[in-house]
This record gives sequence, structure tokens and C-alpha cells, in this order.
Amino acid sequence: MIVPATIPLAEPRLSGNEASYLAECVRSGQVSSVGPFVGRFERAFAAAVGSRHAVACASGTAALHIALRVAGAGPGDEVPVSSFTFIASANAISYTGARPLLVDSEPRTWNMDTQLLHDEVVRRVRRGQRPPGVVEVVHVLGHPADLEPLWTLRERFGTRILEDAAESLGAAYACGRFGGRQVGSVGDLGCFSFNGNKVITSGGGGMLVTDDAALADRARHLTTQAKLPGPGYVHDLVGHNYRLTNVAAALGLAQLEQLPAFLAAKRDLCERYDRLLAGLPVVPPPQAAWARPSHWLHSVLLEPASAEVPRVVDAMAAAGVQARPLWLPLHRQAPYARAPRLGGQVADRLHRQGLSLPSSVGLSTADQATVVGALAAALVVKDPMVRTAGQQGGLGCGIAGSAARDCKSRPLASDPG
Ligand SMILES: Cc1ncc(COP(=O)(O)O)c(C=O)c1O
Repeated sequence: MIVPATIPLAEPRLSGNEASYLAECVRSGQVSSVGPFVGRFERAFAAAVGSRHAVACASGTAALHIALRVAGAGPGDEVPVSSFTFIASANAISYTGARPLLVDSEPRTWNMDTQLLHDEVVRRVRRGQRPPGVVEVVHVLGHPADLEPLWTLRERFGTRILEDAAESLGAAYACGRFGGRQVGSVGDLGCFSFNGNKVITSGGGGMLVTDDAALADRARHLTTQAKLPGPGYVHDLVGHNYRLTNVAAALGLAQLEQLPAFLAAKRDLCERYDRLLAGLPVVPPPQAAWARPSHWLHSVLLEPASAEVPRVVDAMAAAGVQARPLWLPLHRQAPYARAPRLGGQVADRLHRQGLSLPSSVGLSTADQATVVGALAAALVVKDPMVRTAGQQGGLGCGIAGSAARDCKSRPLASDPG
């Protein structure tokens, strides 16, 4: 039997200045965190996302840890975070000594149900409890979260907003209060990841962004072991060895230069998937009319009757296609099974029914057809005429034109009754 080459879930495209920038590092001998690419990458990144300051870190997790520290999270605090996310989002909270409060998703975007959290915080404050000092909201899979209810908490209680935008570089708000703003640049702090499967990669790395110069200075200080300037080894805090290297920054800068092309390719990929999947019993990924997603990983929900996700993943793997189930929610993970939580049923359903499909920038049209063929073969299609695309909340990639209408009709966060 001939086993076909695997179509990976996400692989980087290194087709720009990567080789020449890396050669420059080797030629100059500047391979550690002292070197010009770190600052160049930070400045270019801040400009690309629309933030005043950027601090390059060794990973997205490191960036989150530092962001939580400078936002003031520590022992005795509870930090609300999405239950439906990669575990690093919550681990960064645990590193500070704070405890995550796991918040369910809302079905419209699969992101944190920020209205649910808003209402709970208001209820707690009425009972005399203190509001959270910081909320970590994750923009999952390339789709912006609804920040409006969190903004109300920020205005009423001074709660800081930390955006975990690790997966969503390039996603933005189409209209409304945050219209035109990119994810990560709206809250008090934003964090991104550049590991190998992200929109851009630096091999491994992350970025913290903020408009607040004092927060940025403190964050940079903490990433370099909190060492004071000067030749001596004098440190004023317990810091971390979290600075990005010049080599990684060189790679990251070369990738960032290609970001507009990568985002356009991702959008094309999403539109093609929408067309190819239209006849299958799957619900396409969310697309709120007020959002401009970056389409990081094209993820769909299988109709409950059509197949079980693990079986579909195995069948697709046998056909040479790497698909991946959506995350087991954090409230089902051993380290967080006893963490306090708000709801969880939506996150559970997303895990039960959700599947990410290969979404590399360089995925060819032929390979995309192979992916859809493998998925179709793995599904039990009772009625081949069944069409679910566009139903059940998922709306596909092509409807941004209705954004303004949707923004007007969106209710603002309100007090619970
Ligand atoms: C939502 C989310 N947060 C944080 C991270 C951590 O980033 P890194 O792997 O760069 O540490 C990731 C991914 O890796 C992620 O998907």
C-alpha cells in the first residue's frame, strides 16, 4: 500500500528575508539577545498591530506570565480566563500564584462569554466581593472576542484587560467602539505567540504589547532578570530569563514583513473551505459581522449524528491528512479540574464536535480538495443533499458587508437583573 505524504495541520512558509537576516546574525556574531534584530522586530511589530510599545519575549507563555505580573496578578487573586483555550493561557496565571476562574465560551464566536463574566462580577461586587484586578481574555483560533462587556468592567471597577492574542495576529474589529483596532492592541496589555504553527513564527517566541510606557519598561526589565543598568550584577526584583534572542527576532522580522500576504492567503483558504465543505454536515467557523478574523486554523463543528471526532481524526490521518480535535476544556484537565468556573457546557460541546483542518499559508488548492475528500469519506452522510454551512451560528468567511448593521443592533453590556 502506498501511504500518501501527510498534509500537516500548519507549517510555516519561509519565503522572505529569513535566510539573509539569519546570515547577518551569524556574520556579526550577534546570536543572543543582544543584537539589532530584537529592537527592529519590536518596533515593526508595535507598528503592525497599532500599539505604542512591544517587548519581545522567549515565548507566548513567557509574554503572558510577564503581562500578568505587571498587571498585578499574584497570590490570593482570581484571574478570569477562557476555559476553551490552550492550557498555556491558564498556566501563566498559575505561575504568578493567582488562581484561574474558568469562564465558558459563547456559541457565536467560541470565545469567552464576556457577558456571563460581566454579570457574575457585578453580582459579586453587590455582595461585597472585590472585582478582578485583571481579566485574561483569549482570542481563539483567529476570531476576536467580544470585549464590550469587559470594557464596562474596566470603566466601572478599573479591571485591567489582558488579551491573549497568541493565535490571532492580524484579526481585528470591523466596527463599533473598537472598529479598525487589531486584537492585542485594545486592552491594557496584549500577548502574541510565534511558535511554529502560528500566523508568523520566530521558531519560538512571543511579544507583549501595550500603550503604557511604564508597563512596557517594567515588562522589559522583568524579562532580563530584573538587572539594573551598569556593569555590576545588581537586581531589584526576582526576574526571568525571558528575552527573545537576536536569531529568533531576525526570523520573526522576516516573517512579519510577509504578514499581509499570509493573511490574504489565510482568507482565500477559508473561502475555498467554505465552498468545498458546503455540502457536508459540518458547521463552518464563526464569523461575527463585527469581526475581521485572521482565519488562523480553519475549524468546523461536526453534526453530532455524523461522526465522532476521534474516529474522524484517525480516518483522516490514515488518508495522510493531519486534523486536530479542538481543546479539551481546562475544567476537564487534571491541573484545573478543581478550579472555580462559570458554566462550561459550550466549551464541552466545542470539544466534542470540533475539528481543525490543515491551514498552512502554502496549502495548495489540490491539497485542500484532498483534505475535504478525506473528511467527507470519514463522515457518515445520511442525506448527501444536507447542507449545514451558514446554519447554527457559523457563517463562513464572506459576510463582512453586514458588519455595520450588526454593530448598530448589538446591545451594550448591561447589569444583570
Ligand atoms: C491561546 C494561546 N495562548 C498561549 C500560547 C502559548 O504560546 P507559546 O507556545 O509561544 O508559549 C498559545 C500557543 O502556543 C496559545 O494558543
